[in-house]
Amino acid sequence: MKQIAVLTSGGDAPGMNAAIRAIVRRAVSEGLRVLGVQNGYAGLMANTMIPLGSREVSGILQRGGTMLGSARSEEFKFVEGRQRALANLAERGVDALVVIGGNGSQTGSLALAEMGFPVVGVASTIDNDLLGTDVTIGTDSAINVAVEAIDRLKVTAESHGRGFVVETMGRDSGYVALMAGIAGGAELVSIPEQELSPEQIVADLGAAFERGKRHALVVVAEGVRCRATDIASYCEQHHSQVGFSLRVTILGHVQRGSVPTAADRLLGSRLGSGAIDALLAGRSGVLVGLTNDAVSLTDIHEVGGKKKQVDAGLLSLARTMAL
Ligand code: F6P
Repeated sequence: MKQIAVLTSGGDAPGMNAAIRAIVRRAVSEGLRVLGVQNGYAGLMANTMIPLGSREVSGILQRGGTMLGSARSEEFKFVEGRQRALANLAERGVDALVVIGGNGSQTGSLALAEMGFPVVGVASTIDNDLLGTDVTIGTDSAINVAVEAIDRLKVTAESHGRGFVVETMGRDSGYVALMAGIAGGAELVSIPEQELSPEQIVADLGAAFERGKRHALVVVAEGVRCRATDIASYCEQHHSQVGFSLRVTILGHVQRGSVPTAADRLLGSRLGSGAIDALLAGRSGVLVGLTNDAVSLTDIHEVGGKKKQVDAGLLSLARTMAL
């Protein structure tokens, strides 16, 4: 193996740059050359790649987003698109590929690995919905953004005696909402894995008011059926039972754009370096993640298209802490 390529795919996540930097510097330490593929799988098919040395990845550790650009590619899902990508990799003399991304992106890496090209994936998505790792790059930063928003909303909620419904990202996973809800001291958390009905939310907010609470925070994951605006309008219709009047804040992409936390810089560095170790050991079709605080490799067959469950103990903790 003389030259590898790296790409970032799917939603950007704070800490992706740390992973790119680690991949490049660990590869350089082994005498390997590195090409950075621009804009994910789209760039692989369009043959847009740039040489990356240690100096090209200077100053990116503390930056959110991805210096390589990212994209979601429909075309890559078809064999013709993947064949074009493989032809470009062959033309450039690339011996192996590292894919930094989440679930959909790792389905793409598995498809390439199954076509015989050496590929390893690095677990990265703010959603933390990937099996094969305890945590993904970007999740800690996204949770911190949500908690900071909740802290600020609590200030104004307290001043006005109001409630707030905060909607977090997470696609169909409630992990970010649940963790932000616990760390932010939310009264209620509604997530796809355990969605609260509007009737339940009215009853629980009313009970919180009865217990003497004069402001309230409801954290809702974007993947639920009854979204933040629906909850607020239902509660408004049942104001006399709720006690609080509610406002809505949807965090959306604000959660993706933060400066990476130290935890995400460390995770990106460890997993990026681990990806090169995996390639040097001749591995392919594996996801590099973190399990019990050690870098781990998991067959992507066990990861692709599957969803990690949230810990029931954390759901129970969120409820108890809201008393
Ligand atoms: O997977 C990361 C994520 O931010 C999800 O939480 C969200 O549902 C989705 O990406 C948004 O995708 P896009 O940036 O393409 O709108």
